Amino acid sequence: MPLPKAELHLHIEGTLEPELAFRLAARNGVVLPYADTEALREAYLFKDLQSFLNLYYELMTVLRTEQDFEDLANAYLARAAAQGVRHAEIFFDPQAHIARGVPMRTIVEGLWRALGRSTENHGMSTRLIMCFLRDESADSALETLEAARPHLDRIIGVGLDSAEVGHPPAKFREVYEMAADLGLRRVAHAGEEGPPAYITEALDLLGVERVDHGLRCMEDPDLVARLVRERIPLTLCPLSNVRLRAVDVLAEHPLRAMLEAGLLCTVNSDDPAYFGGYVADNYHAVRDALGLTKEQMRELARNSFRASFLEDDEDLRSR
Ligand code: ADE
Ligand code: ZN
Repeated sequence: MPLPKAELHLHIEGTLEPELAFRLAARNGVVLPYADTEALREAYLFKDLQSFLNLYYELMTVLRTEQDFEDLANAYLARAAAQGVRHAEIFFDPQAHIARGVPMRTIVEGLWRALGRSTENHGMSTRLIMCFLRDESADSALETLEAARPHLDRIIGVGLDSAEVGHPPAKFREVYEMAADLGLRRVAHAGEEGPPAYITEALDLLGVERVDHGLRCMEDPDLVARLVRERIPLTLCPLSNVRLRAVDVLAEHPLRAMLEAGLLCTVNSDDPAYFGGYVADNYHAVRDALGLTKEQMRELARNSFRASFLEDDEDLRSR
């Protein structure tokens, strides 16, 4: 039986498998510039974050209706449940859909048709985190938060994703302040491709409770000491880091050193349809490449629940 775990860094649009992409394209009359799923898979060779994002945004244009978002989320939930996921905190990128004319309501209600039934259908609890695209303007982020207001009963927090370098957290200070005033939880991608200073900014200027990736903290010993002292969780995504060339090979991934430094690390899949594995595949890959002990594997699973936004009485580990 797979280790029970929570998944805290998962972009729902990044779970769009080629087969579903072609099915939705046919349903919606969208023409994809690939002959078939095999030709599409051949495009999954990335040289950095941006080269991945180009394909990620292109492919998500097949998502148009509530039914599409529901089908996407149900496909993820079934795969995640089979990999031992008992709780998932799921990112979505509304700006990428709203820019194509898909209303916020369609996105949120479509996802909710699946997530609202995740406990009965898949034995999993779920939460939804809305991400701002950091390569869009601060004003666009503010408009997006405004558009989300009628749906805040479905959304527990905000995040920050897309192209990192050149788009420091400071740009989004105001919208994060507004999110905090609305009672939303705060996370942000930082230190994936961007420098350790972006991690510090995310903590100090955006008030994030958790850092997504945070990989490059290892370049700054004072920052590592702070993250350890303040028990700030990091949501690492090892297979993603290899595919996007943040690390050369998995055997050189700093996860083991990070655990040994006392960091509160979790392992997640990021965009599993693109990076060659769902969350248990990430656990197994780091175990094999880094020689993690059984106790370190259990620590990762324990950390995933500790770092989650579940209330204590909602903890699903023992179910
Ligand atoms: N959007 C989807 N996946 C992402 C990643 N790994 N980094 C930044 N933005 C993303
Ligand atoms: Zn991510």
